[in-house]
Amino acid sequence: MMISVAINEKRTVGVRNPMIYGHFIEHFHRQIYGGVYDPGNPLSDEDGFRTDVLDAMKKIRIPILRWPGGCFVSSYHWKDAVGSHRTPYFDKAWRVEDPSTFGTDEYIKLCRKLGCEPYICTNAGTGTLEEMSDWVEYCNLENEGRYAKWRIENGYEEPHKVKYWSIGNENYGSWEIGAKNADEWGRLVREAVKMIKRVDPSTELSAAALSDTDWNLKLLNACGRGLDWVSIHQYWDPLSQNNNPATYEQCMACTKNLSRQIDDVRGLLTVLHLEDKIKIAFDEWNLRGWHHPKVAVAVNKEDYLTPRDENDDNSTYTMADAVFTACFLNTLNRNCDIVGMANFSPVLNTRGCIYSHDKGIVLRSTYHVFDLYVNYLGDTMIDLWSEDSMPSMKICNKKGESVTVDTLDLLATKWSDREGIAIAAVNKHPDQALEIAVSGAGSGAVAEAKAFCIEGNGTDSYNDIGRNEVYIKERNLGRYEEGMKVRLEPHSVNVIQVLPCR
Ligand code: AHR
Repeated sequence: MMISVAINEKRTVGVRNPMIYGHFIEHFHRQIYGGVYDPGNPLSDEDGFRTDVLDAMKKIRIPILRWPGGCFVSSYHWKDAVGSHRTPYFDKAWRVEDPSTFGTDEYIKLCRKLGCEPYICTNAGTGTLEEMSDWVEYCNLENEGRYAKWRIENGYEEPHKVKYWSIGNENYGSWEIGAKNADEWGRLVREAVKMIKRVDPSTELSAAALSDTDWNLKLLNACGRGLDWVSIHQYWDPLSQNNNPATYEQCMACTKNLSRQIDDVRGLLTVLHLEDKIKIAFDEWNLRGWHHPKVAVAVNKEDYLTPRDENDDNSTYTMADAVFTACFLNTLNRNCDIVGMANFSPVLNTRGCIYSHDKGIVLRSTYHVFDLYVNYLGDTMIDLWSEDSMPSMKICNKKGESVTVDTLDLLATKWSDREGIAIAAVNKHPDQALEIAVSGAGSGAVAEAKAFCIEGNGTDSYNDIGRNEVYIKERNLGRYEEGMKVRLEPHSVNVIQVLPCR
């Protein structure tokens, strides 16, 4: 099937914030300890960070890294994990002992090595407003007060300059320690904003929102003008209790209405005339929910700790994850006027795009999608349209319901600092190729076209130790001509570049 598409690079739709390619790392399972922070491993540097993991993270140019949670944060006390004496404590969120050897200063060191912005989520569960603002003092004041002096005493003369802070995690959820109701939440966030901004008015603050009008209205009416961001989360294949990953077709069904939450929150911000003041931070997202069954009820460790290893099954992360991730990144780009940040959850191990083991790493299918979008696609959305009807397919979701979804997801971009265009083209169909005919891509100059494709061998292709089925293939498409035809293989993520000849 062939679809003709036309682009108009003179019609700019929006410029995306690079922070939509952000990531998240939590004190959960092997994300921190035995993950990025692995002192004593021959692959680790003098600070205990895995250099192979750092290199992989740097290649996808992580712009911002959210830490330390997630549910973990809602009973976390940051003062346990700074300074010469670290206090191991029992993490009630995940029911493990945290040695506290990785704390704020180690996290900042990690961000400096990655060249990314830190984004700290504070404890609005059991924590206090003072504990939150003391944290900001520790990180951002020059030397005033006990906490800045403590940072200096710990060897960090210069402030850490943490700009992005989140007040709490998912405090709306019954699963969260220290959960709040909508009235409590609005008041708490208002007072937390007051305290933190008194320490450092240059901070940008987010707080948990969701697709619930009552919650968001009370939050925004209580302190909308004080916030810079509202935080929303989504996992489309929930696997916390049963690790039964959705099939390729079921995952494609999840691509229907991908912007639902964004649309809901956008609508509320608009009706409250806050859309120019507050942006959306989609600061936890992944197709696959994390597997951590019975965390609140199991007595025996093998019933709640051992199952977490099932997140490490690399065969779970297939072309379904790659195709879904590309479709969601397209959604974030298309909504770049209101979505300014997004954080893949998490970056490493669990459901992350990188998997680490004692002797090395595996780049899962989703890693290559981030590589493609960060390194091959433009930063400016331009107009793309087609007079042809878009192809679609009728499939079943995980509940067995029939849904119809588009099989083609297209995004046209250009660069703000160089010539040329790049089109992200996702073919979701499990076994049918598509063909697009591209017009309007050449700016008159002689241009060459190339395609960078992530295809796999089949819908269930994945990467593992000693197995590399999913990677970026480069195809030379030759000189660009109007109406140039490009084949999109089944279950593939493609970026087509049309660049002027040098
Ligand atoms: O499953 C991981 C958890 O998902 C995160 O800790 C939390 O923020 C979200 O509910």
